[in-house]
Amino acid sequence: MDWTGRKILVTGGAGFLGANLCHALAARGARVTALDGFLYGGGANPANLDGAAVELVRADIRETDLRPLCEGAEVIFNLAAQTSHMGGQRDPLADIAVNAVAQVRLIQAAREAAPEAVVVHASTRQFYGRPRYLPVDESHPVNPPDANGVSKFAGEQYWMIEHRTAGRPVVSLRLTNCYGPRLRIRDARQTFLGIWLRCVLERRPFEVWGGEQLRDMTYVDDVTDAFLRAAATPACHGNIYNIGGPPPASLLEIARIMEKLAPEEAQFVTREFPADRKSIDIGSYHADDSAFRAATGWAPEVSLEDGIARSLAWYRTRLAQYV
Ligand SMILES: NC(=O)c1ccc[n+]([C@@H]2O[C@H](COP(=O)([O-])OP(=O)(O)OC[C@H]3O[C@@H](n4cnc5c(N)ncnc54)[C@H](O)[C@@H]3O)[C@@H](O)[C@H]2O)c1
Repeated sequence: MDWTGRKILVTGGAGFLGANLCHALAARGARVTALDGFLYGGGANPANLDGAAVELVRADIRETDLRPLCEGAEVIFNLAAQTSHMGGQRDPLADIAVNAVAQVRLIQAAREAAPEAVVVHASTRQFYGRPRYLPVDESHPVNPPDANGVSKFAGEQYWMIEHRTAGRPVVSLRLTNCYGPRLRIRDARQTFLGIWLRCVLERRPFEVWGGEQLRDMTYVDDVTDAFLRAAATPACHGNIYNIGGPPPASLLEIARIMEKLAPEEAQFVTREFPADRKSIDIGSYHADDSAFRAATGWAPEVSLEDGIARSLAWYRTRLAQYV
């Protein structure tokens, strides 16, 4: 797809994945509007859009008039969300307000202002719950382990209904744990790897909870590539796809990669899962993403070791902006 001059809306555009997508789109010559409400505790960071030629609109999808923002958009990448699992447990009403109710607001605004726009929706593996089998394909039963899983599933399903009833080209990508530059590393709110990276760079031991759980971490450039391909591939429209990463690794294996890459700095301790997290932990997960690979030719290109090395290098020069 030639992105030059195309008008694109990215919701959640100042967050981790949204900002990386904005950079990629702007570099391809697209006219990008990044909509972000800078929600407390999320991944939004003004530094995330440094150097990207995008228009940033600070507004909340729960209340702002979304029609002018949708007007003329050819593609809407929809990434705005309340993403914290513990946050969703503590305040499920706020979680539903963003991940489900505001999704319906956006659907209605887009119906009026951008009826032809392709929508790529950021969904999650979270609502599969504790996998009954591995790797998890798209037919795996949905069994959300927490409130955030319920609201994210609802949001996705509203978008798929819009495809079925109004013919809107919609693709939903069920992402696994993503990491890389612009991830929130201040604390553990955005994947365990964020706080691990911070601890390594500050020469503090990081904690591995459990350790045997498998994860197929996706490097952010591969996530961005998946979003761009999903938009550009009409055969994908109307479908839901899992997005995985390179071959899975256990948390302990990932911790040892950190040690190998930063031998002077990385130290870790293992401990039991805290009780409040254990109740919503999903155990091991890795995706069967063969359907998306077959439809688009996508495949993750960045290995775990390479991705962690790139992440460490990126944050070394920018730590103050992210802690
Ligand atoms: N990062 C991952 O590992 C991962 C995994 C699965 C799914 N996802 C999905 O990908 C999307 C992006 O996630 P992320 O990791 O970049 O998170 P993030 O927190 O960095 O980005 C989400 C952005 O949405 C914004 N936002 C939230 N509520 C808003 C509102 N009411 N109005 C306007 N903006 C609002 C936040 O300020 C934030 O910048 C989310 O939909 C998330 O559920 C991410």
